[in-house]
Amino acid sequence: MKRSKITIIGAGNVGATCAHWAAAKELGDIVLVDIVDGLPQGKALDLYQSSPIEGFDAQIVGTNEYGPTAGSDVIIITSGIPRKPGMSRDQLLETNVKIVADVTAKAAKESPDAVLIIVSNPLDAMVYTAHVVSQFPTQRVVGQAGVLDAARYRAFIAAEIGVSVEDVQAMLLGGHGDDMVPLVRYTSVSGIPVTQLIAPGRLDEIVTRTRNGGAEIVNLLKTGSAYYAPAAASVAMAEAIIRDKKRVMACAAYCDSEYGVGGFFVGVPCVLGRGGVEKVIEIELDERERAMLDTSVQHVKDLCKSAKQYLPK
Ligand code: LAC
Repeated sequence: MKRSKITIIGAGNVGATCAHWAAAKELGDIVLVDIVDGLPQGKALDLYQSSPIEGFDAQIVGTNEYGPTAGSDVIIITSGIPRKPGMSRDQLLETNVKIVADVTAKAAKESPDAVLIIVSNPLDAMVYTAHVVSQFPTQRVVGQAGVLDAARYRAFIAAEIGVSVEDVQAMLLGGHGDDMVPLVRYTSVSGIPVTQLIAPGRLDEIVTRTRNGGAEIVNLLKTGSAYYAPAAASVAMAEAIIRDKKRVMACAAYCDSEYGVGGFFVGVPCVLGRGGVEKVIEIELDERERAMLDTSVQHVKDLCKSAKQYLPK
């Protein structure tokens, strides 16, 4: 069987950690790209040298060019500057639109059939940017945010109750920002509604901590943002696509009539398989959830409007 090919753009903490998880899962051959000479080459060689110890078979190549990325099945875009303490994701907009537009154009040209997974921030505007620049069908452009946000939420809930993280299931909606919408009503522990296990006030605190999950880590690290969990989340999405698993995951996906969004990429439950986003699942929302989603979607729309001015003409 032909191995899948995964290109990871950006050999910083998120990109290099994506390569690490993807190699460990034997997802396919990996091409790590960065503009810094030697950085992707060095990290790729180092990771490759771990393969006899860890027992994975994969070619891992580092490069500053896009030629070696040709024919990729999945492209994970992590390029851009991360947040520093006190910054919002939105403050990265101008710089990262330009970077993501540039790398997307080059990568899309080499791999016209790939699925693009965008990880750079501000996430929802970067997915929009990658779509405009690549002109790929909307199903093949998807953003990573919900899997990470849901993982944080699930981890906090598991720790609170003292149960396995594997048994906590959760869904989130909206943008990857402070107004993301964790859905308490759709959160369960092996099918048991979480509201039967955690008191309402405490659950509110967990939701707030989840919303601020990225900032909590930025404040601790001081020099950058999270990367283990963002990379694990991105690779989980890549795995669902490469192995055609049809996993149901919260992703930034294109919604037109769905949830009445009107043509933007926002966080919604999706079926992820070989075709990328194979389906957006519409779930029932009560008035409060609907209002929170509308606020989040409005924020995404405003951000995309601002992103437009920095896109290449
Ligand atoms: C976070 C950043 C990477 O949520 O968006 O950690």
